[in-house]
Amino acid sequence: MPSLRIEEVKEVAVIGAGDMGHGIVELCALNGYKVYLKDIDQKILGKAKKRIRESLNILERKGKLKDETIETVLGRIFLILDYEHSLENCQLAIEAVPEIMSLKKKIFSELDSKLPKSAIIATNTSNMSITELASQTNRSSQVVGMHFFNPVILMKTIEIIKGSNTSDETMKFTENFAYSLNKLPIPVLKDVPGFIVNRVQAPSSVLLNKTIEKKIATFSQIDANFRKIGQPMGPFELMDYVGLDIYKHGADYFAQKIHPEFKSPKWVNELITAGKLGKKTNHGIYDWS
Ligand code: CAA
Repeated sequence: MPSLRIEEVKEVAVIGAGDMGHGIVELCALNGYKVYLKDIDQKILGKAKKRIRESLNILERKGKLKDETIETVLGRIFLILDYEHSLENCQLAIEAVPEIMSLKKKIFSELDSKLPKSAIIATNTSNMSITELASQTNRSSQVVGMHFFNPVILMKTIEIIKGSNTSDETMKFTENFAYSLNKLPIPVLKDVPGFIVNRVQAPSSVLLNKTIEKKIATFSQIDANFRKIGQPMGPFELMDYVGLDIYKHGADYFAQKIHPEFKSPKWVNELITAGKLGKKTNHGIYDWS
């Protein structure tokens, strides 16, 4: 397959309209791409569009919309419940659904059957094997990890992860695509759980949880100290911000793939069972209401 050039990409698809998916769509539309946003629920799609509009309002107030209006940017976004013919001209699809391997695999098979043969399939997974996902397709050299950070619109970097069969051309293309979004790509050349950023953070999260369990310090004492040393958020604020459900998926994946000690602690599981997922539900470790 001849390698894809960034100039050939006009349309992209994003699968999953949650925290990450809606941010990725906003970013792509802001940078001139026509974007199809696919989800399984009209309400989730509606909420995503509302969040994008709110964010664009902030950018407009700050004069960061270049010469465009909010409506022009929103006009590039198409909400879909079924693929129908929408993928026919997409040269890139970015999967951003929950971190459930079986769900991601199903989506990869669907994308593989509907996208043009030359298209690249990226996953926004935070931790999971790119190689395993690629095995669902007949284009494993064109499957790549594209790990955005939350909030997508503000965070500067994207990890670009090479699966065992990802070609150098696909890596180059995806790095160029990240530059076209005004982001800094961080190439990750080994497909290991957690890639680089989450892999480096995971051990400290084990010790932080022990600090809580042994009552060495409280959540707010720890967070206050992190802020004092210049971090924008403390680690527990960040867990709430990203979502405790997302944290748990990552921790349990690490426990399964690396060491049982990474498993999500009991107190996180209890908060999740009580419906306290963090900022998005107004309650988590902290009260955000
Ligand atoms: N759209 C546009 N602008 C926005 C915005 C949005 N959705 N949200 C906030 N902003 C703007 C605000 O208006 C504000 O602008 P000014 O400074 O000009 O006033 C600016 O961004 C900062 O926002 P806030 O003042 O509300 O709050 P803050 O200073 O605490 O910054 C933050 C917010 C950028 C999220 C910062 O706290 C931060 O960097 N936190 C750490 C985030 C982080 O580490 N993310 C990675 C998580 S891990 C992950 O995502 C991957 C994974 O695998 C799970």
